[in-house]
Amino acid sequence: MQLVRALKEKSEGIYPFHMPGHKRMLAGDGIFSDIYSIDVTETEGFDDLHEASGILKEAQDKAAELYGADETHFLVNGSTGGILAAICGTVTINDTVVVAANCHRSVWNAVALSHADIYVTAPEAEESFGICAGVDPASVKSALSDISREGTAVVITSPTYEGVVSDIATIADICHSYKAVLIVDCAHGAHFGFDDDLPENPVKKGADVVISGVHKTMPSMTQTALIHINRNCPSKDRIRKMLTVFTTSSPSYVLTSSIDSMISLIGRSRKELFEPYVNRLNRFYEKASGLKCLTVLNRRMLTRKGSYDHDKGKIVVGDTTGRVSGRRLFDILYEEYSICAEMAGFSYVILMTSVADTDEGFNKVLDALFKIDSMICRMPETGKKNEPVPLPHLGEGRIKNRMIEAMFAEDTEQVAVERSCGRIAKDLITIYPPGIPVTLPGQPVSAGAAESISEALRRRLKITGLNNKEVTVLWERSST
Ligand SMILES: Cc1ncc(COP(=O)(O)O)c(C=O)c1O
Repeated sequence: MQLVRALKEKSEGIYPFHMPGHKRMLAGDGIFSDIYSIDVTETEGFDDLHEASGILKEAQDKAAELYGADETHFLVNGSTGGILAAICGTVTINDTVVVAANCHRSVWNAVALSHADIYVTAPEAEESFGICAGVDPASVKSALSDISREGTAVVITSPTYEGVVSDIATIADICHSYKAVLIVDCAHGAHFGFDDDLPENPVKKGADVVISGVHKTMPSMTQTALIHINRNCPSKDRIRKMLTVFTTSSPSYVLTSSIDSMISLIGRSRKELFEPYVNRLNRFYEKASGLKCLTVLNRRMLTRKGSYDHDKGKIVVGDTTGRVSGRRLFDILYEEYSICAEMAGFSYVILMTSVADTDEGFNKVLDALFKIDSMICRMPETGKKNEPVPLPHLGEGRIKNRMIEAMFAEDTEQVAVERSCGRIAKDLITIYPPGIPVTLPGQPVSAGAAESISEALRRRLKITGLNNKEVTVLWERSST
């Protein structure tokens, strides 16, 4: 009963500026209050998600219409399921896939399974908070002309966790001129296109495959997501096949009907939900501009090539004067103001918002931020600015895909982070969230990666892929 007790107790009285997007407040339909009574899978009278032809097909078609897609499939194991299917259905051994270095680990795991070689393209760093900029279309063009082979794929994340949006229309045109498939990980942008004040939905900007994480920013249950496939996508049949490979054979109707319920809710009440949401956000940014020591990221601060637009729904706030780290700010919000942020980075926290947020929620966080701001301003200056977040340290250009080989390697040893530099990593190491890799299995650990891991350990950030705070590397004769 520990889990049940935790569910009842842990979130009581805490305001959720994190996923899921329904915020435990906005359910499209009353039937979800008794989950057991609606928990079925593909039994008599119900449709089969793997070959939808009845009620699931109808629901998926309704979702496609809402998002303006030619074809939409429901996903019940998060955006991860769609990313695996999209990449493994599009590229394979002897192909080269262009991947933006700041893609989530689910993308890298999919690339590992695909056995395709990799061409890394690295977005620049924004000065504000050191976050990744958007993907520069010119870098995609240069990667594709370097590969000089048609029929590959380009995978990018837009928006990023911090809400940075890339120029999908231009990138899609470039991809199509090289006959490459553009796959957009839009896990954080399922709410795009539902208000003029939000960025446009990438489906309508010409991307071939878009994965929308509806559980993150829309009122839909955890694990639910959508994959949209353009009718001209040359790998669409293989992606459909891969969807059946990566999806459970017992998809939950609780989850699929939660997506359906959200789609109907937005279909009938889009304006009523999104207008007040965007007004709340605009009011928040206007008031937050009065903060003195804390900084809130906005569109004007995104100055690097590739940063095309900004999702104001992701509130990125931090102390750029260096007195309070992201982790500390997260803890203060939680412990002193009963606000749970989505994540803590090196120097900032992300407050994730959705149409389910309330005026009370926004007032509560504004009040907390102003109080924290005056506390920070009274603290002595450290003279040290907050370090930027670690960017991916994967370099740029072509990489032989040795990921599975390294992940399965048996001759390995563990070394202290400072000694891992130059050694071949066994595991994908990410600072989580955001889950962007600092090392790839089968690739040397860079000096920057080792430094970022050490810094993240010092700042108590969660890291995946370490073993007892050490890096597992492939054994080398010279290392004995
Ligand atoms: C950018 C990005 N892509 C994909 C995913 C995977 O999404 P899910 O947890 O729905 O599988 C995440 C998860 O946080 C993410 O941040």
